[in-house]
Amino acid sequence: MAAVSLRNVVVVMAVVLVTVQVFAQGYPEADLVVRLPGQLKVAFRQYAGYVDLDMNAGRSLFYYFVEAEEHPDTKPLTLWLNGGPGCSSGCGGAFTELGPFYPTGDGGGLRHRTCCLWSDRLELDGLTPTEALITTPVTSLLPAICSCSCWDGSTSSQSSSLATSFSLVKTMQLQFTLKGVQFNIKGIAIGNPFLKLDRDVRAAFEFFWSHGMISDEVGHTIMSQCDFLDYTYIYPHNLSVACNDAIREAGNSITEYVNNYDFLLDICYPSIVLKELRLKQMATKMSMGVDVCMTYERQLYFNLPEVQMALHANRTHLPYSWSMCSNLLNYSGIDANINMLPTLKRVIQNKIPVWIFSGDQDSVVPFLGTRTVVRELANDLNFKTTVPYGVWFHKRQVGGWAIDYGNILTFATVRGAAHAVANTQPSRALHLFSTFLRGHRLPNKTDIAMHD
Ligand SMILES: *[C@@H]1O[C@H](CO)[C@@H](O)[C@H](O)[C@H]1NC(C)=O
Ligand SMILES: *[C@@H]1O[C@H](CO)[C@@H](O)[C@H](O)[C@H]1NC(C)=O
Ligand SMILES: *[C@@H]1O[C@H](CO)[C@@H](O)[C@H](O)[C@H]1NC(C)=O
Ligand SMILES: *[C@@H]1O[C@H](CO)[C@@H](O)[C@H](O)[C@H]1NC(C)=O
Repeated sequence: MAAVSLRNVVVVMAVVLVTVQVFAQGYPEADLVVRLPGQLKVAFRQYAGYVDLDMNAGRSLFYYFVEAEEHPDTKPLTLWLNGGPGCSSGCGGAFTELGPFYPTGDGGGLRHRTCCLWSDRLELDGLTPTEALITTPVTSLLPAICSCSCWDGSTSSQSSSLATSFSLVKTMQLQFTLKGVQFNIKGIAIGNPFLKLDRDVRAAFEFFWSHGMISDEVGHTIMSQCDFLDYTYIYPHNLSVACNDAIREAGNSITEYVNNYDFLLDICYPSIVLKELRLKQMATKMSMGVDVCMTYERQLYFNLPEVQMALHANRTHLPYSWSMCSNLLNYSGIDANINMLPTLKRVIQNKIPVWIFSGDQDSVVPFLGTRTVVRELANDLNFKTTVPYGVWFHKRQVGGWAIDYGNILTFATVRGAAHAVANTQPSRALHLFSTFLRGHRLPNKTDIAMHD
């Protein structure tokens, strides 16, 4: 991974969580996942397989669905979509960030997640947080979506991850409605998203500068020489020579020895992982409670034929291996320049609550940009600040900072969290998610005084 070449900033795993109330029959029994290799016995059911959209064109969506442990029929449904574009939600998001299992360090098994988005139920007064999880890996997602009517009812060529996700939701909504199934979207939560490229890219450099990763000189030059309004997602980004030189210097200063998705985490060395796997069959490297080598463990696990078989995946024997992110679908780089605020505005105008949260250690899509962009959106909607910017608490500690606009739009940071919020601060992420799910506000008080 090259450190700051802006190419790096392209892999953005924005996350969209949509919670809906669905009253529907169970999933097809053929999709029941009996047991995943290396998995412990569990009391809930899992399903995986394809939803076929157009067999002739080869368009199918892969999904992975986990039922709630208790009374799954009465629980709301959460749809989780990774961004990228082109990154896997099912095997990536579900098996790294928030599902019930994650791969072990030997590449061959699964550990049961005991904390948090999945099953930290004590804290939740009996509510299972991830009530259900449907996830959609990459393959064939985009063509399917873009052949359908999108959010606003027009055929859209937008293919940024967020637009795609919204379109998918809309498509699902249409399909469910056609089947006479009630499908009410209760809310949308988005984590560390690219919303407006000019602001978000600038924010990456503000983050580097404020975290001591680049010199004052380079920071000043970038801020004065780079006009990010003209920035294009596609390399070489349509920037001036002076700006590009400064960005190159920034890259040299940051180096590739930094985890851009979490400034605080140590990195996983591929060279060491591969050796360890050979010698010890173990590749785990813990840093601040996070296994930073998970990507390699995941890569091994999901390419095992028995795992693919158990998940009913890869039924057409694709001639390439599974990877977390893929550009097989020819995502349009130009579309990444699309400003997502109008889309979010339409969502809010449909009275759907929107939460946007930022892991505050992420330098790829730093909160510095997201916070500003959400404020712009609130201004555009003429929203009043309904809860002023301030701390929220979790377990008597600051979980992050939050602000609420118009009683429907919330921005929150998660303190100490990476780009993948739930993976790095699971307990705080669970608190945030369950608060969102219940339509509550994050607690801005704690029950203990600082001084007697
Ligand atoms: C590239 O930048 C110039 C100004 O420097 C601007 O006029 C042009 O529209 C930009 N191109 C794109 C594709 O954004
Ligand atoms: C699909 O299965 C084939 C073997 O039949 C394997 O070689 C290939 O890597 C798999 N592809 C994916 C995307 O997992
Ligand atoms: C993507 O582009 C490549 C090269 O232009 C082409 O061969 C391939 O068929 C395209 N894939 C899709 C899914 O359109
Ligand atoms: C705390 O949150 C409540 C709403 O939940 C709000 O009315 C109040 O102004 C907030 N207090 C501070 C100090 O921000």
